[in-house]
Amino acid sequence: MEEIAMTPPSQGEVCIESEGDIVLARRRVRELAIATGFSSTDVTRVVTAASELARNVFQYAGKGAMRWSTIENNGRSGLELQFADQGPGIADVKIAFQDGYSTGEGLGMGLPGTRRLMDEMEIQSPPGQGTTVTIKKWRKI
Ligand SMILES: Nc1ncnc2c1ncn2[C@@H]1O[C@H](COP(=O)(O)OP(=O)(O)O)[C@@H](O)[C@H]1O
Ligand SMILES: [Mg+2]
Repeated sequence: MEEIAMTPPSQGEVCIESEGDIVLARRRVRELAIATGFSSTDVTRVVTAASELARNVFQYAGKGAMRWSTIENNGRSGLELQFADQGPGIADVKIAFQDGYSTGEGLGMGLPGTRRLMDEMEIQSPPGQGTTVTIKKWRKI
């Protein structure tokens, strides 16, 4: 019979209010992704996505937080990251997802790129209530 290592789900938070915090968030995500057992390609994908979203928090809202949690579904493990801020919000999420759309000086590839790199992605940005972006990646079996 196959032994299944059960690790308890865990969670934590990283504040994002400086350039240095983006580096810390990246570093934490890299450690978590490796601990979750992602392939090195998937580690890079998740770190790249987290980096884009952490930068958006800092750039557009000034500050916010990344909440992370390990997730489990039918014995499959994964990582969920949630980037939350109380900034101006995104008026039209559908437009923000278009390749090349930017209200700043960016390339406008952060959100669409992140969607391609992750398995699941959801944005909540109700008027006047900031922005919360949730992304998930599942470990391949
Ligand atoms: N956390 C956020 N708060 C407010 N607006 C955001 C946030 N994240 C993204 N946006 C908006 O969505 C647009 C697209 O984001 P993104 O794809 O990362 O491109 P870029 O950052 O290069 O402009 C941004 O230009 C900005 O208008
Ligand atoms: Mg961006």
